[in-house]
Amino acid sequence: EQIEKGGFDHFMLKEIYEQPLAIKDTYRGRLLVDDAIIKMVGVEDNMKRFLNADRIIIVACGTSWHAGLVAEYIFEDLARIPVEVEYASEFRYRNPVITEKDVVIAISQSGETADTLAAIKLAKSKGAFVFGVCNVVGSTIARETHAGAYTHAGPEIGVASTKAFTTQITILTLIALRLARANGTMSSSDYRRQLQELELIPEKVAEALKADKHIQAIAETYKDSRNMLYLGRGYNFPVALEGALKLKEISYIHAEGYPAAEMKHGPIALIDENMPVIVIATKKGHYEKVVSNIQEIKARKGKIIGIVTQGDVSVRELADHVIEVPETLENLSPLLTTIPLQLLSYHIAVLLGKNVDQPRNLAKSVTVE
Ligand code: AGP
Repeated sequence: EQIEKGGFDHFMLKEIYEQPLAIKDTYRGRLLVDDAIIKMVGVEDNMKRFLNADRIIIVACGTSWHAGLVAEYIFEDLARIPVEVEYASEFRYRNPVITEKDVVIAISQSGETADTLAAIKLAKSKGAFVFGVCNVVGSTIARETHAGAYTHAGPEIGVASTKAFTTQITILTLIALRLARANGTMSSSDYRRQLQELELIPEKVAEALKADKHIQAIAETYKDSRNMLYLGRGYNFPVALEGALKLKEISYIHAEGYPAAEMKHGPIALIDENMPVIVIATKKGHYEKVVSNIQEIKARKGKIIGIVTQGDVSVRELADHVIEVPETLENLSPLLTTIPLQLLSYHIAVLLGKNVDQPRNLAKSVTVE
């Protein structure tokens, strides 16, 4: 097992560090920047189904559901295709309206999640076209879907999903960009820029990982907290949810993710000097509005950990700590802002002496409902 961990203390840390390569493996052979082409067989072969779709319904659970939420922003923003994101467990039991004109995308790292599989079967029975995004090759979901694309992230052993999440976002970005070009939503110059920026993401993830030691020190300061709040807006709202889930599942600290502006509709009541608030406040994406949310937290003496773009000044003045990530396009920012949140959860759990790779009560894949 020590050998399998490749010199890391835990599989989770190894998998966090594998992300630059995993993301590259996801776009390898699919992202052809010089030719300004995205090549994905499963999408090309079914282009008509995608282009004629009234909407895309995404079904998934847990972290994969969070990737689906990011995809909702990506598909609507870049390709102007309406998207609904559903918890597979709710979708399967609520008699949903599905027609032959719907495209369903099922996201699952393991490809074995019982609720996601049941949602797929239901959608197929109503005549929808079902596309799978899985990591495990030959898994049940990969076989049960009409077509799909593998993330090629390599085996994910840690129960807490890390590289599966970022590679799912990568593949969903590729699909959305391909559709945006095919349906004429995106100009060729914007398309080119997107492709170039996506290609740079692995090295920017590697750059974000350099904050590891700094994040470990922040973890030391907050490890005894009983609650934590995660806030983000737009593309980074789902990242806030994912950050909170990561902390909950491996450190057993109660955490909640919220869209930053929803804070004043309830959660702000929780804020006092004992509440650390992690705020994703990157330059592109409602920056000024998030800064004003940070001022509100500060006025209530909350402890602020800002996830900011390199060189940020405004948040640094207000926050107790900042963690920098490189600059990128807004729609690609979740691939970077996720990294410090994974590391923060990891270090807190390790400092608390928790079983990081196999947290209590959890299984790597939930094959029963
Ligand atoms: C994430 O850290 C969890 N382990 C969990 O939420 C997981 O993402 C969920 O069970 C879905 O699994 P899947 O992607 O294999 O379908």
